[in-house]
Amino acid sequence: MIVTILCLVFLQSAVALWPASLWSDGNETVVPSGSQCTCEAFLPSSTFPIGDLVIVEQTATEIRHRLELEINKIEMFVSKITIYVEKIVNLTVQIGLMEKDPDSYTELHIQEVKISIKQMEALIVELQGSIQTSSSVLISIHEEIISEILELTRLESYDKNMVLEIRREYIKLQAKLEECESRHNEIFNPSIGSCKHGGISRLSKPIISQFNAHLSASYRYGGWGKDTNPLPGSETMYWYSGSSDTLVKIITLYSDYYKLIMRQAFTSVDLYARYDYRGRGNNYIVRGNTLYYQYNNPFSMAKYNFTSSTATYRAIPEATTRFSYRYSDYQNLDFAAEENGLWVTYATEESQGRLVIGKIDEGSFALQETWETSIFKPSVGNAFMVCGVLYATRSVNVHTEEIFYTYDTNTGQEKYVNIQFEKFQDFYSYLDYNPTDQKLYMYNDGYYVSYQVWFS
Ligand SMILES: *[C@@H]1O[C@H](CO)[C@@H](O)[C@H](O)[C@H]1NC(C)=O
Ligand SMILES: *[C@@H]1O[C@H](CO)[C@@H](O)[C@H](O)[C@H]1NC(C)=O
Ligand SMILES: *[C@@H]1O[C@H](CO)[C@@H](O)[C@H](O)[C@H]1NC(C)=O
Repeated sequence: MIVTILCLVFLQSAVALWPASLWSDGNETVVPSGSQCTCEAFLPSSTFPIGDLVIVEQTATEIRHRLELEINKIEMFVSKITIYVEKIVNLTVQIGLMEKDPDSYTELHIQEVKISIKQMEALIVELQGSIQTSSSVLISIHEEIISEILELTRLESYDKNMVLEIRREYIKLQAKLEECESRHNEIFNPSIGSCKHGGISRLSKPIISQFNAHLSASYRYGGWGKDTNPLPGSETMYWYSGSSDTLVKIITLYSDYYKLIMRQAFTSVDLYARYDYRGRGNNYIVRGNTLYYQYNNPFSMAKYNFTSSTATYRAIPEATTRFSYRYSDYQNLDFAAEENGLWVTYATEESQGRLVIGKIDEGSFALQETWETSIFKPSVGNAFMVCGVLYATRSVNVHTEEIFYTYDTNTGQEKYVNIQFEKFQDFYSYLDYNPTDQKLYMYNDGYYVSYQVWFS
């Protein structure tokens, strides 16, 4: 069935190719007299690896089934948890009553309650096991989808139209997986929003979502991600900005992940044309439906509120434009958001280029407190904040990056660490953490890349 359809599409494109390449008028191009003999030379079938495409299509079907199974499992976990919670409430009530009036309960009653507690324990252990399996299944599905999309990208170089249909299928799968994961996280990751952990222990493999919305390899600068403190109803929103230079021009918003990868925006704000704020540096963040970014003239922190369509700015007199991160120019005021709010990092003349961390009071849009670190900004690839701790990265080689330094603003302690992670491409102009899903978002030489963060 699949093969038949593919072959039909295939013939159509072959036919479409035929007149253009053979019957060009007024030229001495040889029109074949016995048409069947030259026909084959122009058919893409001789080069197009149709078998590979069929495999990709079959893999899509398998992944879809596995994903549906996972979604069913997650729904089952949810109903189980609801029952457990009810049972725990019942047990708590019973124990409370027993404590109040111990004499009215027999030893038998007490034994019953003890057995119930033991049963609950066993059920919870079982559920924990299933949840862990489910998490690792989702990660492996993710990896498979990525490798299939890379395969499609390879096949696209043969024939775009033919591959497009299947690519669309994978994009749908990606969106479904994203939905499944966020549901999974919502239910099973009570650590979201919490800082009761010992900091980042490792990062996942890079999850490559898409090439930039402009489909242009020259769009090396940019960023993407989700609102770090979304307004109610905007929890699934994504944003993207890309450019062939370091100026911040257009910010595009998408209602959900599927719309992002299908490149179907609901709005685009042209900051440069409408407000001429000359935003610069690809070190912005979206928070509370507001873009926080660097304004170059006068040099200051700026915010553009998408809700009210207004912009305001505020200078940090000590901050200097003299030091940027290693990969990209003009990254002087780097915004970051984490569990406790909004931050900005920069270097000063007084610090001689060493990174300074500033906590921003969101109400007054002013610096509340600052900390000076001992790392030289130009040696840093990029930096982000998690739970009041600054994490700084640097390059190990073209494929590997590492978090090499942390500064804890809670204790004033700094540490040299070695948390390596894979890069998809060497150059990146954007890296930020999002506390709503505990992911890092990277704009990696035109590609949207993300990482799941694990804490110890
Ligand atoms: C025929 O086409 C070729 C390639 O496009 C071109 O170089 C050549 O000048 C053309 N000849 C005539 C007579 O138009
Ligand atoms: C909890 O207690 C109520 C009232 O005693 C009972 O009707 C209900 O079935 C119990 N629920 C569970 C899950 O044991
Ligand atoms: C954005 O504008 C809306 C509407 O005026 C306002 O309620 C909101 O607080 C503003 N948000 C920020 C972050 O300034």
